[in-house]
Amino acid sequence: MEPIHLFVPTFRIDESLAEIRECLEKGWTGLGFKTVAFEEAWKAYSGLPHAHFLGSASNGLHLAFRLLKEQGGWQAGDEVISTPLTFVSTNHAILYEDLQPVFADVDEHLCLDPESIAQRITPRTRAVCYVGLGGNPGRLAAVRDLCRERGLKLVLDAAHMAGTWLDGTCLDGRHAGADADVTVFSFQAVKNLPTADSGMICFADPALDQDVRKWTWLGINKDTYARTHSAGGTYKWLYDVEHVGFKYHGNSIMAALGLVAIKYLEEDNDHRRRLAAWYEEELQDLAAVERVPMAPGCIPSRHLYQILIDGRDEVIVHLNEQGIYPGVHYRDNTLYRMYAHGDGMAPRARRASERIISLPLHLRMGRDEVRRVADGLREAAQARP
Ligand SMILES: Cc1ncc(COP(=O)(O)O)c(C=O)c1O
Repeated sequence: MEPIHLFVPTFRIDESLAEIRECLEKGWTGLGFKTVAFEEAWKAYSGLPHAHFLGSASNGLHLAFRLLKEQGGWQAGDEVISTPLTFVSTNHAILYEDLQPVFADVDEHLCLDPESIAQRITPRTRAVCYVGLGGNPGRLAAVRDLCRERGLKLVLDAAHMAGTWLDGTCLDGRHAGADADVTVFSFQAVKNLPTADSGMICFADPALDQDVRKWTWLGINKDTYARTHSAGGTYKWLYDVEHVGFKYHGNSIMAALGLVAIKYLEEDNDHRRRLAAWYEEELQDLAAVERVPMAPGCIPSRHLYQILIDGRDEVIVHLNEQGIYPGVHYRDNTLYRMYAHGDGMAPRARRASERIISLPLHLRMGRDEVRRVADGLREAAQARP
């Protein structure tokens, strides 16, 4: 029987090759050309006012804290409230800037619980880093209100949220990030908008959007593309270096893949939502399975379909024996040695981390594959003592 994998990216191969071919024919594969076009396409799609294309979301999360720290005059050791139920990029980004991740607990959506965040606020808290796990906004609106009330910056790790509409649809809704100070998307190979490795950083503040373009190219105040295409053409070699920056910008080959993928994002996410609805139907009578509720009123990207189940590890082995390969998103980060200082601060996240499974969800699946996964789960649940 065909294996059913957790993620299988789908690329529109001929269209993608045509976009990439243009880069190769023009002799421009780096920053500029397609990266500028992709930033425009992302703004037009999401309605977010600013967007800068990056090498990865990990780069973007680092930049979010770098620029907010600089703008706000934050000090080393200042605190950022974050979730332990995430990929380590989220929390590493806080540490890159010598800030302190302080772990709050998650709610039933497996996103940060606003009440737990409120309990963690101290005079040194500067920001909340919120992860929309699997594309679920959870209680993001309440967290936004709390941040506004308490004067904290809101960083949205939207790695899973390409195509999550907080309310309304693609035509009239607000995309995830509409109320955050900065939002970072991942377009890594298995995400909803797949390239190979890239991301987008979207600041609300236009000044930070301008600044970040220098930070992503080593602190140089005029990029090669701007220099090559600037009016007049004189002194193209002349630029200033304002500070130590990073090499974090995206390139035109990744943007070429993104320009094709964005055209299909809504259609692809519709298919993901259909798969999720079939899972809901198939699993509703399976008492052993606890389903993770989606925030009401949103249209989620459905990057993941997650369930909680006792005996998770044995269930996964059982599924593997049937050729079904689910995933785990994520292990409670405080189980990792370097985040052990947060151990015990988020009991609900710890419990979820022991029971969570991401079921296979990708565009090559249909109803039959969903049924096969559900049948596998049913057998695994019955096999348990
Ligand atoms: C929640 C979360 N944040 C950040 C990242 C980092 O994304 P990237 O691989 O684009 O650096 C990921 C990637 O898996 C993620 O899942």
